[in-house]
Amino acid sequence: MSGKFKNTVLISMFFSNVLMVAQTAGDIRLLPPMFAKETTLYDALKNRKSERSFADADLSIQQLSNLLWAAAGVNREDSGKRTAPTAHNDQEIDVYAAMQTGLYLYNAKDHILEKVLDEDIRSATGNQEFVKDAALNLIYVADFRRAKGDAESKAFYSATDTGFISQNVYLYCAAEGLATVVRGWVDREKLAEKMQLHPEQQIILTQTVGLPK
Ligand SMILES: Cc1cc2nc3c(=O)[nH]c(=O)nc-3n(C[C@H](O)[C@H](O)[C@H](O)COP(=O)(O)O)c2cc1C
Repeated sequence: MSGKFKNTVLISMFFSNVLMVAQTAGDIRLLPPMFAKETTLYDALKNRKSERSFADADLSIQQLSNLLWAAAGVNREDSGKRTAPTAHNDQEIDVYAAMQTGLYLYNAKDHILEKVLDEDIRSATGNQEFVKDAALNLIYVADFRRAKGDAESKAFYSATDTGFISQNVYLYCAAEGLATVVRGWVDREKLAEKMQLHPEQQIILTQTVGLPK
């Protein structure tokens, strides 16, 4: 990332705290997680639900930062362990973020969204109409090169491990008043091709997030 771009991002974060990814290119340096203290876990559990109507509006940089940290961020610096558990601590699920400005990979260690593609691939992340316009589609990808065990246990644990991440996202969205739905109805082959995935990477689920309509 060039120094000029870094400054542009930092200044825009400082003054408006609004995500202006539509005007930027390159990696997105996320903010440290900051959660409103008045929302309880009870509130989040009570309000958790799937929604399929999304406003045509971006998330703020703070919301995007909180969301990714909640999904699978590092919550123990000493061990590098995450907000979601994984079998054998394999940490084999990568969280990709498809937005209007392109496709990004969440680097949890550095809490950065690394740009992978310039193309807007939101429409390829699912077979439902809303996916192409919602601010964000998360794509949960198991990287079997980082998973232990035979093919059957890799498939089983990558599905369970994805469930924890998805539920973290659900609870964050419920607490923050964002709309979300996890999705299995996706053409995985087509999406994997768009994402230029390695044969050992497998798309498990996708999840749309945005402001409610
Ligand atoms: C593994 C999984 C796959 C799902 N796939 C889809 C999907 O492709 N499209 C969709 O609209 N909802 C999908 N859902 C959401 C469910 O339809 C939803 O969770 C269910 O109707 C219960 O509603 P609730 O989440 O509001 O409690 C999926 C949920 C799960 C757990």
